[in-house]
Amino acid sequence: MRRVLVADDEENIRLVLGTLLKKAGYEVETVASAEEALTRATTFDPDFVLADVRMGGMTGIELCAALRTRGQDATVIIMSAYGSLELALDAMKAGAYDYVAKPFKRDEVLLALRKAEERETLRRENKALREAVREQQSFAQMLGKSAAMQRVFRVVEKVAGYDTTVLIQGESGTGKELIARALHDLGAQRAARFVPVNCGAIPGTLLETELFGHKKGAFTDARADKRGLFEEADGGTLFLDEIGELPLPLQVKLLRVLQEGTIRPVGDTRDKEVKVRVVAATVRDLEHEVREGRFREDLFYRLNVLQIVAPPLRERSEDILLLAEHFIARCNARLGTDVRGLDPAAKKRLLQYSFPGNVRELENLIERAVVLSEGQLLGEADLPERVREPTDMVAAILASGELSIKKTQRFIEEALIRKALEKTEGNRTQASKLLEISHRALLYKIKDYGLS
Ligand SMILES: Nc1ncnc2c1ncn2[C@@H]1O[C@H](COP(=O)(O)OP(=O)(O)OP(=O)(O)O)[C@@H](O)[C@H]1O
Ligand SMILES: [Mg+2]
Repeated sequence: MRRVLVADDEENIRLVLGTLLKKAGYEVETVASAEEALTRATTFDPDFVLADVRMGGMTGIELCAALRTRGQDATVIIMSAYGSLELALDAMKAGAYDYVAKPFKRDEVLLALRKAEERETLRRENKALREAVREQQSFAQMLGKSAAMQRVFRVVEKVAGYDTTVLIQGESGTGKELIARALHDLGAQRAARFVPVNCGAIPGTLLETELFGHKKGAFTDARADKRGLFEEADGGTLFLDEIGELPLPLQVKLLRVLQEGTIRPVGDTRDKEVKVRVVAATVRDLEHEVREGRFREDLFYRLNVLQIVAPPLRERSEDILLLAEHFIARCNARLGTDVRGLDPAAKKRLLQYSFPGNVRELENLIERAVVLSEGQLLGEADLPERVREPTDMVAAILASGELSIKKTQRFIEEALIRKALEKTEGNRTQASKLLEISHRALLYKIKDYGLS
């Protein structure tokens, strides 16, 4: 049953409205002042407040504002015998939903309530809808409504429960670490630790003791036993980031650990059993590394039981604005800024940009733009130059609407020649080599395009 709180200093009105509303199926409470209404609202939690504009102390309009600041979201309807447009406007400004002039007919009050109720239902449905959409577009800590990311979410969900090794492949900044964390957080090992190691950042010799630990006295600096990261991650997940950087001798050792489920700390003579789920990530194409002899084939197959590819951002442009808005909101929360979004021109630029640094690049450039921006919307001027100048020529040409091959070819040739001349500091012989055209052809084109 919907609850209505009536606040009026006239007893008659309280009686009339009380009976009328009860008959119409509402649960009603009545109070004689705005102050009383405020206290009662906290326990009664009304859906609607019908408040007279003039009561002894605080006015109905002030009541309306006070309810808002206390986070009460009851819909307020103001009643007044001193009907004036100005008053009605003041009431609306304070957040009242409607205004009823006294004396009123019964139907007028009921109608106002019904209208408010409809709006209330709509608002609730909208909220539920928005939440459903948000849920669909996010997964663990990741956002993505593109088909490509939705596929990633489904795979992660499916394999998180198994403790097979997983290889995550993707360009830099595509969210490989987030995927690894999601696998951990949704898996059976979530209570134990998630231990990330960047194999590229630690020199080979050190990496071995980092991973497997060492015994006291194993080498000069080994003054005490040291637990390795495999042991730290026991029962949980070890995330081997940049696995492609792992030196060959360590690759052999890692393979042994994966096959046998035991580690041997440096300088130790005994093996220790560990139960660790290994998730590895790489920006490199490991199959290519295997062909080139830089990565062991047997380790590759052992890691590649399951492969998840983190798609580059330029292949899922549906996610760009979604992520941008998410990062704006996060910046606002962190920096106390009040940026509301992106203007249409900035949106267009972001959608055309190729994002070589993927999500991380987007994250950084939004942060920079939020700090730089002076308005409530981020504009083109707040974006770095590389984004404002479309580098993706194909996208730029398609956006221009020009379909003539002849004209667009000239455009591309001109850009390439400029670039080559820039690079060779105007040396035409060298430039022609870079362009793979004859020296004569280059001279002709320079003249034709009016370059010098
Ligand atoms: N789908 C996503 N939703 C929200 N944030 C994301 C998403 N993907 C990546 N990010 C954010 O982008 C940044 C880069 O992600 P992450 O570190 O996981 O990428 P990576 O592939 O490991 O990059 P690198 O190869 O450079 O180590 C992080 O700050 C991460 O929070
Ligand atoms: Mg990473």
